[in-house]
Amino acid sequence: PLATTGALVAEAAAKQQAVAAFNVITLEHVEAVIAGAEAAGSPVILQVSENAVAFRQGQLLPLARAAVAAAECASVPVSLHLDHVKRDDLLRQAAAAGFSSVMYDAAHLPYERNVAATRAAADWAHSQGLWIEAELGEVGGKDGRPPLDPHAPGARTEPGEAREFVAETGVDALAVAIGSSHAMTEATATLDHALLAALREAVKVPLVLHGSSGVPAGELALAVTGGIAKVNVGTALNVAMTRAIRDHLAEHAAVVDPRKYLAAGREAMAAAVARTIGGAGAGGHC
Ligand code: G3H
Ligand code: ZN
Repeated sequence: PLATTGALVAEAAAKQQAVAAFNVITLEHVEAVIAGAEAAGSPVILQVSENAVAFRQGQLLPLARAAVAAAECASVPVSLHLDHVKRDDLLRQAAAAGFSSVMYDAAHLPYERNVAATRAAADWAHSQGLWIEAELGEVGGKDGRPPLDPHAPGARTEPGEAREFVAETGVDALAVAIGSSHAMTEATATLDHALLAALREAVKVPLVLHGSSGVPAGELALAVTGGIAKVNVGTALNVAMTRAIRDHLAEHAAVVDPRKYLAAGREAMAAAVARTIGGAGAGGHC
């Protein structure tokens, strides 16, 4: 059934677990995430990023409507989340498109401007009944840019600033920069667990880990124990899908029916979803 992100994250956080949130680009991603979550017996979040909307020719509704319909048919709770949004017009479509939550991304702005923009977004989101996540300290590797130097100023979330940011903006969850980076195709990141402990202490709202494809399963499980309640994964699905399609086409040179290779890609993504949920100790039974 269709669930709300706020409820899924709160339930996971109460059990010191995390709920996994997977980025979806195509209908095959949607089907694979739900199949993988069903196999794991865990709730799951389907998230659509502003970049994915750009790929869908600027249209949110076609993929959103398909995702809502798939969520309604799922045997585990599934929520819809709008991810890494900078465009106000997109943010304003969220509730009508079936999303219960949004991530407003002003992390690239200087602190004061991040606070002002995020507070305005949070006020609006709450007026619509939406749960809102924001980011402080920048998790690098966005939009095809190289990963940030993890020691560069602003590349890590500072606990005192995080406490002030949450109080000043009123956000419901905070994405923190603790060593992960977006778009890593190998799981080689090392997380700063001491910083996570300090952030967990400083901030009362649930914490979110971005760029989790680059985080080894053991590190991820430790981060969940350390207070991460939402684990965002995108690239790992694309790695699994593309590898399976490439292998399928290499083995079946004469194939022309896209269902053949898309099925191989979808199956590989579903397996990656189930593996990630299991490895992170994310989710829990519903
Ligand atoms: O918001 C999306 C996530 O942070 C996904 O990051 O593609 O590196 O797993 P990833
Ligand atoms: Zn992210």
